[in-house]
Amino acid sequence: MNRTNRPAYRLDNTSAMLIPQVSPGPVIVAGRSATVTDDQGRSYIDLEAGPGVSSVGHCHPRVVEAIQRQAEVLIHSPGRYLSHMAASLVERIADLTDGRLTRTFFANSGAEANDGAVKLALKHAMNNGKKGFGIFALQHAFHGRLSLPLSLTGLAERKKGFGPYATFPGVLHLSAPYSYRAPAGLSAEAYSELCVQELEDALLTRAPGEVAIMIAEPILAVGGILIPPANYWPSVQKLCARHKITLIFDEVFVGFGRTGKMFAHQHFSGEPQIMTYAKAIGGGVPMAGFSATEELGTGFEKGDHFTTFGVNNQIGLAAAHAVLDVMKEENLPENAARRGEQFLTSLQGLARKHEIIGDVRGQGLMIGVELVLDRKKKTPAPAVAAKVVKEMADRGVLLSVTGVHNCVLRITPPLTISEQQVDDCVERLDEALAAAIG
Ligand SMILES: Cc1ncc(COP(=O)(O)O)c(C=O)c1O
Repeated sequence: MNRTNRPAYRLDNTSAMLIPQVSPGPVIVAGRSATVTDDQGRSYIDLEAGPGVSSVGHCHPRVVEAIQRQAEVLIHSPGRYLSHMAASLVERIADLTDGRLTRTFFANSGAEANDGAVKLALKHAMNNGKKGFGIFALQHAFHGRLSLPLSLTGLAERKKGFGPYATFPGVLHLSAPYSYRAPAGLSAEAYSELCVQELEDALLTRAPGEVAIMIAEPILAVGGILIPPANYWPSVQKLCARHKITLIFDEVFVGFGRTGKMFAHQHFSGEPQIMTYAKAIGGGVPMAGFSATEELGTGFEKGDHFTTFGVNNQIGLAAAHAVLDVMKEENLPENAARRGEQFLTSLQGLARKHEIIGDVRGQGLMIGVELVLDRKKKTPAPAVAAKVVKEMADRGVLLSVTGVHNCVLRITPPLTISEQQVDDCVERLDEALAAAIG
């Protein structure tokens, strides 16, 4: 990989010069669809996809071509000028949300999209004389690593050591409907009702003034693939409407086909006033945004919000158009639903064989397998989970661990994964679990 005009380096030495952001493992140099290849020529099925980025598959020819074509014409527009790329993408996003989310801001990352969305919702609250600027967020949520998104994140481990950087004023974290770990004796639905009641109670007992915003992932991703039961979101939406709380859905991980529908909130006819997105929309190129209803989206005045890239990033915009074309032409949300069902059925089969599997849950290709040392006590098994990841890499499958206890295997492959590849992954997981338990 070394080029003669570059200084010599040794990966094992120089990787220490990176402020920590990578883990030891294969050095990936190429990718195609759901497969990647390392610098030793070994190929792997990719169950991470970025995470959640390469939904149309690695280096999809349509995306590659769109990037190349755009790079020859205009890489970055001069700034604050309209472009055909941006105008037509805004239209497409409005169409994908049944014409509801008509006002869009383009950004660079998920954290930035969430930051901007909350800023817009706060401005809306101020414009409308709201008496308080409280923000509801969920425990186990992950919204990014910038100061405000980190403050909204409900995972203490990610915030430790950052003091006020991770504690934006007015943020209240409430219970997420983590069905598998619902209090003993409560069904998922009953626990979900309790969680909604907790929101209602917090308005009376915890909020310093009115609550203006609620931000949440429709399915909590980094928090352990937590899928709220069917009664949760409709009740939360009603509560938000009753108290004039702006509801922001963070679709950064789950958006663009991953759960079997274009957006995860469409599974329960969700009607967010703002939706944020990133990851998959750029097909691997940094691209993100938030889209709002007409009422919310008109809250910003000119000059209230801007970023150098975003709307000017012609490569990102071109890639996003190509991603949407591919999603439609190849029916990728449908494939995600089908392959997701296949995975779930096979994983449930593995759960009957391996006691260590406490829970299998998923929606489309957003799948979690929670490992526990004791099924009754649900004792998390993070050490086994780490071993399984290593055993899987040795067997040519890449995946990672997530959740507050670091014991949930996260399965979020490109949506192009084939039936055969799913079978191969499950077969290798069967072996890896046996090897990790020893
Ligand atoms: C739900 C969710 N929101 C926001 C983010 C942050 O996105 P980014 O890393 O692009 O800032 C992530 C990243 O994993 C995420 O999963």
